[in-house]
Amino acid sequence: MATTVMGSGFALGEHEVTNEALKRVCDTSDEWIKERTGIATRYYVADGTSTSDLGVRASQAAIADAGLTASDIDYVVFATMTPDYYFPGSGALLQTKLGLGKVPTLDIRQQCTGFIYGLQVADALLRAKAAKRVLLVGAEVHSGFMPWRDHGMVFGTTDARPTAAEYEFNTRYRDRTVLFGDAAGAVVLTSSEGPRGLLDVVLHSDGQYAEKLYVPSGFKFRPYITEEMIKEGRHIPEMDGQRVFRVAVSKLPEVVHEVLDKSGLKLEDISLLLAHQANLRLNEAVQKALGLPDDKVYNNIQKYGNTTAATIPILYDECKKAGRIKPGDLICFLALGAGFHWGAALLRA
Ligand code: UT7
Repeated sequence: MATTVMGSGFALGEHEVTNEALKRVCDTSDEWIKERTGIATRYYVADGTSTSDLGVRASQAAIADAGLTASDIDYVVFATMTPDYYFPGSGALLQTKLGLGKVPTLDIRQQCTGFIYGLQVADALLRAKAAKRVLLVGAEVHSGFMPWRDHGMVFGTTDARPTAAEYEFNTRYRDRTVLFGDAAGAVVLTSSEGPRGLLDVVLHSDGQYAEKLYVPSGFKFRPYITEEMIKEGRHIPEMDGQRVFRVAVSKLPEVVHEVLDKSGLKLEDISLLLAHQANLRLNEAVQKALGLPDDKVYNNIQKYGNTTAATIPILYDECKKAGRIKPGDLICFLALGAGFHWGAALLRA
């Protein structure tokens, strides 16, 4: 028996946001963003749409794609770093909105690697017969941590403009804010007989890097958020971008080799690499280090930016629906992100 994907789907924030639109709130340029990251557009939710709402839309698409209905799902694994609330997690909210009944919901928080961790968890649940059909969701509303006071300025739906002080404050975070988009991706997983399915997962974490990419507020502080902390921007992620980049360029190719070795497979066996989309330059460096040709790699950061836990299921769904994943293909999922957590998984389509 192996864990197979029955269906997939994704959903995007309601507003497309171009690089030009971000110039209204901070000092940046289309040239800089495209050259350093590859990103041309990303999506932000409309005011009031939450991470669980996006998760619901992606899940409905995945459940329909699987030819199932909500009542067929008996477990939810929800990966996000931007939950609707500090607590509870978004899994229970999604369960109720989708009308799944009282099925268990498990929230996991491995950021960009959340989906790959989720695959291993779902696989274990299925093997342990704790579930028959697991809904694995990765969803993020990053626009909630953007420093500007009014998203209407970005959407062009208001004449308001940032004050000079706000513009300066927003610009302080431009190396991060331009990267992220809001989206959700979901898959329905089950156990099937036959050669298809999840072959292996290799995961790692290294907490020594926790403060290289994190939000410096939380329950360590009394109270956990103050007006002073907000003025200091401590509700916005801190990121040592160059450090993350360097660690990722070294760890990502390594973990691909590790998962291949574990499965007794070779690089040439990979049909398609679906890697987390944090930076196009980073993915090009990883592709080069692995020596993979362009037709074995798919990137979509140009359209969606970095969507953290949503990225990999979106890549999968796009490739599946575009006919880039054929029966028998070997798909390699790959990610590194805050924690740091990183890992790779092999799926026989
Ligand atoms: O998914 C989570 C994991 N995260 C990652 O994997 C992120 C990995 N790191 C990166 O992708 C890159 O480090 C960034 C895209 C975040 C930043 O690119 P960089 O090439 O490392 O730029 P930098 O932060 O060193 O900044 C270079 C220059 C600076 O100006 P000066 O000091 O040289 O005058 C920045 O102020 O670029 C400036 N800059 C910008 N300029 C226009 C930074 N952000 C922007 C911006 N627009 N948005």
